[in-house]
Amino acid sequence: MFRHDIIIVGGGLAGLRAALAIRGADVAVISRVHPLRSHSVAAQGGINAALSKTDRWEDHAFDTIKGSDYLADQDAVAFLCQDAPARIIEMERWGTLFSRTDDGMIAQRPFGGAGYPRTAYAEDRTGHHLLHTIYEQALKNGIMFYEEWLVTRLVADGTKCAGVVGYNLKSGEVAGFQAKAVIFATGGYGRVYRRSTNAIINTGTGCAVAYRSGVPLEDMEMVQFHPTSLFGTNILITEGARGEGGILTNRDGERFMKRYAPHVLDLAPRDIVARAVMTEISEGRGFDGGYVHLELMHLGADRIKERLPGIRQISMDFANIDPIEEPIPVQPAQHYSMGGIGANTGCETALSGFFACGECACISVHGANRLGGNSLLETLVFGKKAGENARSYAGSADFRPPEVVDNAVTGESQKIAALLGRKDGEAYFTLRDELRALMDEKVGMFRDGKNLGDALGAIRALKARFGNVGVRNSSRSFNQELVGVIELVGMLDLAEAICIGALARTESRGSHFRTDYPARDDANWLKHTLLTLTPSGPRIGYKPVVMTKFKPGVRQY
Ligand code: FUM
Repeated sequence: MFRHDIIIVGGGLAGLRAALAIRGADVAVISRVHPLRSHSVAAQGGINAALSKTDRWEDHAFDTIKGSDYLADQDAVAFLCQDAPARIIEMERWGTLFSRTDDGMIAQRPFGGAGYPRTAYAEDRTGHHLLHTIYEQALKNGIMFYEEWLVTRLVADGTKCAGVVGYNLKSGEVAGFQAKAVIFATGGYGRVYRRSTNAIINTGTGCAVAYRSGVPLEDMEMVQFHPTSLFGTNILITEGARGEGGILTNRDGERFMKRYAPHVLDLAPRDIVARAVMTEISEGRGFDGGYVHLELMHLGADRIKERLPGIRQISMDFANIDPIEEPIPVQPAQHYSMGGIGANTGCETALSGFFACGECACISVHGANRLGGNSLLETLVFGKKAGENARSYAGSADFRPPEVVDNAVTGESQKIAALLGRKDGEAYFTLRDELRALMDEKVGMFRDGKNLGDALGAIRALKARFGNVGVRNSSRSFNQELVGVIELVGMLDLAEAICIGALARTESRGSHFRTDYPARDDANWLKHTLLTLTPSGPRIGYKPVVMTKFKPGVRQY
């Protein structure tokens, strides 16, 4: 058994920023991939902060809360926006090569739903630059890594966290990690959907592991769809392209956003732009196959090469299109999980000693719809906070008895051995692909009670079929089939949680659009959904939204 005062699960930006907050202490990071392959590396358009003298963190907070359709907790948003400039300057001092203005300041571009150009960027590879910087800092500070371990269990001793159990993807070893405090920074669960901009590792195993330990999930019905993923592969085409002046057009060459967001057009928040694109497609004004055009040609070759080199390369490599010459075919795809492990502003969860930050957490700063550029920010602000609070918790906590972790290791080893012993049966990917298609079709951007009810029934049928899934590959080393089966258990739980939350929420708010309840209903639904897994199944509950000074208003753009 391994033993550290603090274990961080997840080697992306949130996990590594947490680690740096604890440097010098007995801390280790467990990551299922090499940290530089974490999904943070794929973030493109930028990171928000009121850096300019003519911008204010209060305005950033207001834009975020209005963008969230008033479901965000306003104390958490205030903390996020106040802390933002310091986190960006810190990254710059650590070595991130942000793009610059002519007078040498950090360049900032307009982003959807923001009343000020406050998205700092490094070309259109902001996540890549930030992750490399923070990884360098982690190495410099001697942070210890366990790479290519998949954490399959969060271990609790009564109401206190005792550690985790990990499965070594390379050797097949199952081992316990005893810890006084554990931080999950395990990312989102976008791959529950078929069309997603997410990395294939984003199957939500961390969220599912926490849920199975009895920690409630919050606002799972709030799933973000990005308006512009590359048609065919659904690779992200950054909102920064519209921030630089790119425009969306339909098959008639019409700049259709004027009908949906007459004041801000293509720079409306994502939920609004994504629904507009889908409406154009479903009403026959898209192109065959289901896409619209993102036009950048008018920006000119120099600007595209300087500010958007990444998406130019992606368009050329994956669609054989050079955006300098031709429009990019785009369609909406799942992009971000607003819901996740319920946590407060201090990243504390319902289990003492267990903290969550980054996309796997619902703190909630994004409410029903996240603004682009706030995700990278959240990783740094709340990664730091989670690290500080875990360190202080571990300072006065004891290790729980090692037998608790040992027993969990025995249980996980038996489960894995049992899976490897199931040679016959359905292939896991058949169920996984059915699940993804179902989520796209019935739990997507436009929802209604009938489809959600059907989806819930179908997910439960898939859960029943899971008992017959076989694992033909008996290898212990890099057994992707086994990993796929382990992930599928969690994906089914998370999909069920999304459906239950969405079915219960009989209103439309942010990304959750019910065609049978098209209006926002503050009288009944200005509250967060909580899903707790009990021995008799998921139990739904609610808690109030933290309101400070921003009263819910009409959300027009
Ligand atoms: O479009 C983008 O570059 C995505 C940014 C984000 O999700 O924050």
